[in-house]
Amino acid sequence: MEKFSVKAVRESSAVGREVQLQGWIRTRRDSKAGFSFLEMNDGSCLGNIQVIADADLANYESDVKKLTAGCSVTVAGTVKLSGGKGQSTEIQATSVEVHGGADPESFPLQKKRHSFEKLREWAHLRPRTNTFGAVARVRNEICKAIHSFYQNEGFLYVHTPIITTSDCEGAGEMFKVTTLDLTQTPSKDGQPDWSRDFFDRPSFLTVSGQLEAEVFATALGKVYTFGPTFRAENSNTSRHLAEFWMIEPEMAFYDLNDNMELAENFMKYIARQVLEHCEEDLGFFNQRIDDTVLETLETIADQQPFVRLSYSEAVECLASCQQNFEFPVTWGVDLQSEHERFLTEIEFKRPVILYNYPRTIKPFYMYCNDDEKTVRAMDVLVPRVGEIIGGSQREDRLEVLKARMAEQDLDQDNYWWYLDLRRYGTVPHSGFGLGLERVVQFVTGMTNIRDVIPFPRTPGNAEF
Ligand code: 4AD
Ligand code: MG
Repeated sequence: MEKFSVKAVRESSAVGREVQLQGWIRTRRDSKAGFSFLEMNDGSCLGNIQVIADADLANYESDVKKLTAGCSVTVAGTVKLSGGKGQSTEIQATSVEVHGGADPESFPLQKKRHSFEKLREWAHLRPRTNTFGAVARVRNEICKAIHSFYQNEGFLYVHTPIITTSDCEGAGEMFKVTTLDLTQTPSKDGQPDWSRDFFDRPSFLTVSGQLEAEVFATALGKVYTFGPTFRAENSNTSRHLAEFWMIEPEMAFYDLNDNMELAENFMKYIARQVLEHCEEDLGFFNQRIDDTVLETLETIADQQPFVRLSYSEAVECLASCQQNFEFPVTWGVDLQSEHERFLTEIEFKRPVILYNYPRTIKPFYMYCNDDEKTVRAMDVLVPRVGEIIGGSQREDRLEVLKARMAEQDLDQDNYWWYLDLRRYGTVPHSGFGLGLERVVQFVTGMTNIRDVIPFPRTPGNAEF
């Protein structure tokens, strides 16, 4: 007997096959006519399969009639066309083997719906719910799309380090990595003696793989890195995690326009792939979570280009729009999520790429424009989520870069290798970072970023 997934037996082409299925019971209903209906799920798709277990099964009274939500089973049987509404196939069981029970008194996932807050306390069980199963499948599809996009475009996948000694974003939001016992270590001028630490110097979890990706881009052309990144920012918002995944392409000989073009094509590709491959799950999100999910995805996937607006134009628009913002907008301030959402949801009703930001609010590595006030930065903003991509053309002129580092109080000695890229064969180059969880939020409509990553890390939370 062949093993089948629930997804496979729900296809009408499976009718007539003798199959074996393995998964977890969602519900059991007993009919007066002497048999039971079991709803079973194995995670291969959103929908369950209905299993009909007759009373003449040897273990009907002893096992089948005791099945409750959460029990694990192996079912053997025949795939039949179903008479029930909303389902095309069902299984007539020839055997039901029970692996593990799930005491209905204590198993938390009963039929009643739980809030997403409550489910976060059961991060070890929430993948068994419809919503979190669907999130996991969509997240997987997005990751597949990410790799296939860059591989098709001739990019090389490089692995940048997770432990680093440089602060890419210069924001001082890094987690320290140490093997020193900080209570025992003798300190030099009030500081622990880092020369006795594992790496002989202070080291951290990376906030971005960009600087190392630049090393490879300036040798191999087009590269991307995709891995976990860490930020010790103490912000408890629905869009920030302390540990999140980022995709960072980096391209030699790309200017800011090329960079924006790539970002736009990339977003469109992801939207098209999930629309094509996650129909059932997206239908669920559109119905249960946010009824604009499909429509916004379709606006991204269509032929229309994203809106492109300079930061200065955006400020003009926001300052004159008669909207009551919590944070008023003047030239030079960093835009808040309320401003980003206004632009994408109300003013333009589609994704917007903002570029040429004030140099004072952006990191040291961004290319300085001739106006001496702005840098060649770009952010891609999307409805509901706001900033989903941040990137820039990189400063490739040694002297300008050094001046920028001095301006931001960065120690050039720590970045000697990064400066070398400008000393030897420097080239115009660009790149950006896309936050994976923000994409999953955007695609699914889930409002809290803690619900689109399996095990969220936020201030005070690292239980699982
Ligand atoms: O704008 P950010 O900070 O840019 C960089 O890190 C650049 N070094 C990227 C590059 O040019 N290679 O972050 C990029 C994206 C943001 O647009 C956002 O989607 C996501 O990463 N992001 C976060 N996602 C979840 N939680 C956080 N704390 C995030 N911080 C940034
Ligand atoms: Mg940013």
